[in-house]
Amino acid sequence: MNILAIETSCDETSAAVVCGQGGIPVLLSNIVSSQIPLHQKYGGVVPEVAARAHIENILPVIEEAIKEAKIKLSDINYLAVTEGPGLIGSLVVGVETAKALSLALNIPVLPINHLEGHIYANFQGVNLKFPLVALLVSGGHTLLIYMKSHLSYKVIGKTRDDAAGEAFDKGARLMGLGYPGGPIISKMALEGDENAYTFPMIDLTPEPKRNDKGFLEKQKLSMDYSFSGLKTALLNIIKKKKPKTEKGISDLSASYQKAIIDNLIQNSLRAIDLYHPKTFILSGGVAANRSLREILKVEIESTDKKVKFVIPPFELCTDNAGMIGIAAWYTIRLKRTIKNNNFTAEPNLVLK
Ligand code: KG4
Ligand code: ZN
Repeated sequence: MNILAIETSCDETSAAVVCGQGGIPVLLSNIVSSQIPLHQKYGGVVPEVAARAHIENILPVIEEAIKEAKIKLSDINYLAVTEGPGLIGSLVVGVETAKALSLALNIPVLPINHLEGHIYANFQGVNLKFPLVALLVSGGHTLLIYMKSHLSYKVIGKTRDDAAGEAFDKGARLMGLGYPGGPIISKMALEGDENAYTFPMIDLTPEPKRNDKGFLEKQKLSMDYSFSGLKTALLNIIKKKKPKTEKGISDLSASYQKAIIDNLIQNSLRAIDLYHPKTFILSGGVAANRSLREILKVEIESTDKKVKFVIPPFELCTDNAGMIGIAAWYTIRLKRTIKNNNFTAEPNLVLK
């Protein structure tokens, strides 16, 4: 079974070919054409520019994915495409291309949730044990998700304001470092002292309440996130005394990055305590952050819970069609309903 997957939810035009080998999905190709240089001069993704670039890139990217997989168009059995969430103008290019190919080749097309794709980036070439907890950290989302089995999602923690990737991107903008913020801050942080500046830990657990008898009742620990406070703390530091030297900016980058990571880890450990997963996976663009990967691994492996910690290879963390193809492979294998062309791009699609 060969699946041609297409992903155009934001600023990467991507196509991939996935097939099954020994009962697990394997990537035969995964081509990503990044638009980052196009958007850099604006300091962020410009939706109209992104949509136009997708239109120009999509067919060459698909051709390259098929060529690299060493198959022919007629060898494809299924199409898969990101249905949402994402930028409407970007999503539409992928969805309409997939539908047109579906008609031309007379094969079904599966709409896939982009967030599901990020999670399934961890399932390339391996079988993972359930129950599982996933920390999904991207430019638009920060979610802790409990999965008791394949394709079953319960959101147990989410951000109430900015996403973790957004915290990196906005932080970099405040420090005048450019776009995208995550890779730049993590590079600057390499030479910095992470204890040079202090940032708050954010705990959204409600205050204890009194019950009918007047006794204090403990509240359940919150697994929700909030990153806007860190951004404000950063702004206050910059307003008070903006570091002028390269070393000063490195120190501030390292301290800010550490604050984001500490907050991500706090709730991840709470999720492990509460849900006893066999596997903990990290996913999304921010999962490409080396410090987060290293520190989370040490923290999780030092609990006494025997949780297997899994991270995708770097190229599967940020947006790519390979992850969409892997999610589609499980969708077909587990026979979840295939909508077959009767769908449209959904910019606000949720995970359920
Ligand atoms: O998953 P993704 O490619 O797109 C969305 O679905 O949003 O994630 C993009 C986000 C951006 O906010 C970017 O700054 C962040 O991932 N990112 C990183 C790193 N690489 C990308 N954040 C921290 N460290 C990195 N190395
Ligand atoms: Zn993404």
